[in-house]
Amino acid sequence: MASKLQIPPFLGLLPPSIQRIHKTCPSISLVAPSRPNQSCCYCYYYSKPVVIKSRLDVHAVQETVQSPIEDSNSPSALSSKSVLVIGGSGGVGQLIVASLLSRKMKLRLLLRDPEKANTLFGEQDQEILQVWKGDTRNPEDLDPSMFEGVTHVICCTGTTAFPSRRWDGDNTPERVDWEGVRNLVNALPRTLKRLVLVSSIGVTKFNELPWSIMNLFGVLKYKKMGEDFVRESGLPFTIIRAGRLTDGPYTSYDLNTLLRATAGKRQAVIIGQGDKLVGEVSRLVVAEACIQALDVESTEGEIFEINSVEGDGPGSDPQIWQELFNAARIK
Ligand SMILES: NC(=O)c1ccc[n+]([C@@H]2O[C@H](COP(=O)([O-])OP(=O)(O)OC[C@H]3O[C@@H](n4cnc5c(N)ncnc54)[C@H](OP(=O)(O)O)[C@@H]3O)[C@@H](O)[C@H]2O)c1
Repeated sequence: MASKLQIPPFLGLLPPSIQRIHKTCPSISLVAPSRPNQSCCYCYYYSKPVVIKSRLDVHAVQETVQSPIEDSNSPSALSSKSVLVIGGSGGVGQLIVASLLSRKMKLRLLLRDPEKANTLFGEQDQEILQVWKGDTRNPEDLDPSMFEGVTHVICCTGTTAFPSRRWDGDNTPERVDWEGVRNLVNALPRTLKRLVLVSSIGVTKFNELPWSIMNLFGVLKYKKMGEDFVRESGLPFTIIRAGRLTDGPYTSYDLNTLLRATAGKRQAVIIGQGDKLVGEVSRLVVAEACIQALDVESTEGEIFEINSVEGDGPGSDPQIWQELFNAARIK
């Protein structure tokens, strides 16, 4: 059964506290250590220390913030969770990271290009944000030290369904959505509390029209293979299958642009199961669904499809998200 709930405005992706974090730690830069110290916080694997200048414009951020995130989902102390985000430089991933930063969540990012972290999220306290360089296609990049202390993982990696520049270097759906996910799952510690994987609607129907067109280069098939590997891994997982994504991507823009994304109108959320939903979903909603799923016990071991339509949504209210997930579950 699909459930839809229309409730007060979406508040969950407005991270003004990023500004506070930024302001309270003005002297901390993203400093890359030199090799071979690979277990320190900013594992950039450069041969010499590098200081990456922040491009965060705090004043502009303040102007674009429309409503604060200081709600029930925004703890005042640093959270005990430590969340690793894979794909944090992507459209959905950026929104996840920005939102988790605003919630004072301890975060780790695995990025192919670590400099993107500073471009997108500005200077951050190393207690809060650690960035590791890595490519999920390379098992050797997924060193166990990267996962030490990590309690939750959100994987929102992806590439284009059809050949594009994003396939450069063989970064194809087969390599990213299947091999990359498999490598990640194999590397994750068995103590993990939750793995959330972003997948796609239609993965169970890749041989049927119109899905077979989208699947011409295998994207749905390989996403399904990634899903199946997650399901059979024994790890506590939640899979979020997104509809066609709207709002963004904001790739290569900075935090100001991310904050403007909060103006997205598709906030009313529709969640279903059984791969029956067809439609679109705002990247903002997918990001929030991933974050909420980390904490909703009943989402463990479940696969949800998600769409969104114009209207008010659940914002970052955990109670309402829990109701949405529960109502969607096929009994
Ligand atoms: N577009 C749609 O309509 C649609 C519909 C349903 C589901 N989805 C899925 O939803 C998810 C999020 O989509 P999106 O458009 O927000 O994502 P996106 O902007 O395409 O971002 C993809 C992310 O994956 C990272 N990545 C790619 N290859 C990688 C690799 N080999 N190793 C490590 N990281 C890698 C990218 O990093 P770089 O910055 O290094 O490139 C980027 O951070 C994806 O799984 C996508 O397939 C999309």
